[in-house]
Amino acid sequence: MKKLINSLIVLALVGTAISCSNSESGGKSNKGALASSAAEKVYVAPGEHDEFYAFMSGGYSGNLTVYGLPSGRMFKEIPVFSQFPTSGYGYSEETKPMLNTSFGFVPWDDAHHPDISQTNGELDGRWIFINGNNTPRIARISLTTFETEEIIEVPNSAGNHSSSFITENTEYVVAGTRFSVPIPQKDMPIKDYKSNFKGSLSFISVDPEHGHMDIKFQLMMPGFNYDLSHPGRDKSHGWFFFTTYNTEEANSLLEVNASQNDKDFIAAVNWKKIEEYVNNGGGTMMPANYAHNVYDESTHTATTTMKKEVLTVDPLKVPGAVYFLPTPKSPHGCDVDPSGQYIIGNGKLSADLTVHSFDKMIAAIEAEKFDGEAYGIPILKFEDVLAGTVKSGGLGPLHTEFDGKGNAYTTFFISSEVVKWKLGTWEVIDRKPTYYSVGHLMIPGGNSRKPFGKYVVAMNKITKDRYLPVGPEMEHSAQIYDISGEKMELIYDFPTHGEPHYAAGCPAELLKNNAKKIYRLDENKHPYAITSPDQAKVERKGNEVHIYMSTIRSHFTPDNIEGVKVGDKVYFHITNHEQDFDVPHGFSMIGQNSSELLIMPGQTKTNTWEPKKVGVWPFYCTDFCSALHQEMQGYIRVSPADSDIELSWSLGED
Ligand code: CUA
Repeated sequence: MKKLINSLIVLALVGTAISCSNSESGGKSNKGALASSAAEKVYVAPGEHDEFYAFMSGGYSGNLTVYGLPSGRMFKEIPVFSQFPTSGYGYSEETKPMLNTSFGFVPWDDAHHPDISQTNGELDGRWIFINGNNTPRIARISLTTFETEEIIEVPNSAGNHSSSFITENTEYVVAGTRFSVPIPQKDMPIKDYKSNFKGSLSFISVDPEHGHMDIKFQLMMPGFNYDLSHPGRDKSHGWFFFTTYNTEEANSLLEVNASQNDKDFIAAVNWKKIEEYVNNGGGTMMPANYAHNVYDESTHTATTTMKKEVLTVDPLKVPGAVYFLPTPKSPHGCDVDPSGQYIIGNGKLSADLTVHSFDKMIAAIEAEKFDGEAYGIPILKFEDVLAGTVKSGGLGPLHTEFDGKGNAYTTFFISSEVVKWKLGTWEVIDRKPTYYSVGHLMIPGGNSRKPFGKYVVAMNKITKDRYLPVGPEMEHSAQIYDISGEKMELIYDFPTHGEPHYAAGCPAELLKNNAKKIYRLDENKHPYAITSPDQAKVERKGNEVHIYMSTIRSHFTPDNIEGVKVGDKVYFHITNHEQDFDVPHGFSMIGQNSSELLIMPGQTKTNTWEPKKVGVWPFYCTDFCSALHQEMQGYIRVSPADSDIELSWSLGED
């Protein structure tokens, strides 16, 4: 074992050494890029629009950021799994339920892999899904409002990493567990992991009309780590592929103990077969407890439903549904080419890429040529399913995307590079350094039948000297390569937010004309909405004070309120009566144990305040909405708890 630890240390050091040497060539390559037409290629003139949207996962920010390509300009941060004071998401009464889980209110997560909805294997621009890795959840974000509309918790899962990938008609968003756990959870010795823990792969159906998610079934797999996954497409539609590591089922020092087997597996799951089994009454309903949070655009309000059971499927009960494809050296990325023929497993401790053939896999299954089994699941022979090996010469392959022109692009973490190679011949065509330690990469549509192979974005884990230093930690860096020619050309660096693990991109044309500009007031069904400022009012219900407030440039109605007492709980229900694009108003109250609210035109939002001190306390608009934004303010008089001052409110009166 000591030997293996040593060799891992050497591997780690090699990585560092390569990073350092890149540091020098980084400077040179910059000059090279400037000397060429690179600047022209990323220049989007003032007032002009980018050609592509790029949605970058925010990693430990819990959010999703929206960028333009090729400019690298950030347009929006969409709050998903984390409270976001910039808009009040997760603070307002309407959005707090979005962050409910079976563990209570969880205001943070680790967002990893966004994927855009598809129809017939092509991006359709309706929704984007992303996983919460830490407290397993899947979110659906509308690509008209660019807001999170739904979050479903995934029970029996832990480290929701091989997620959230979409089948080619958005039948399912798939979420696989990274960590295996006791299912159901129970108090037991950790050392009894082997053969007792299980890994769940969840197939979450998506309602084609509204996008609502529901866990159709969970496949209870052996206790391996399920790392990444991708759907089959075209000819392999109906299958899903998951990389595994820790097939050793180690429970400690995985760095060493999960690197013993020469080959781990890609699990090939025929979900159509399991769907049929389930539709015919198959599977076992199991007690569970998980949150399903849905935001309603007409009431501008989210509600939580706690679900109490989940359908589980034992793979051994559905013969022909699951096979293991041996794949060298703890594979990480699991990518399927646009034709659906090739399944690429990137062995992160290997120098070579393994490409499996879907046709060969089917032939081997039909011939029943197995090489043993693991927990009853047939293992196919490596040689029987192998389409080819890419001898790349790089180190630490992680992820692969496709350009739709017969080429694949693979990132190498240790040797810090992107390698372009040809599907079918496996020859390496080009390689370019990345700065530094690249993880995922993204070509718009690169995970679909129809990629838009003009740019590839490399998402780097280490930034070092790429930007001006800002203390011990730098924002992660992304790099854009022009891939329209035979050779890749590095054309731009831009900082990203949080830690982008993966990204999804699409042509701007697909989304820009559908983007919502306002919420219509006449469609506002919020129970505390007021349809015009003259309906503004203040009501007392015991110690609760409900303020139905209106905002319009540049005042609140009402703006003077008296009769509030220490010990009250004040609800500000604020309707923005603007019907103009890009005119939100903000609201904030001194001493409030919450964030501000940002209320979109036509929307109603609520936050609360529990006044603790007697006095006259101001509130104001936080968003610079007009020339008289600074005048957009008001006062609340707070009297002692035993005061008999009547509740009253006014605007513009002496
Ligand atoms: Cu309304 Cu500033």
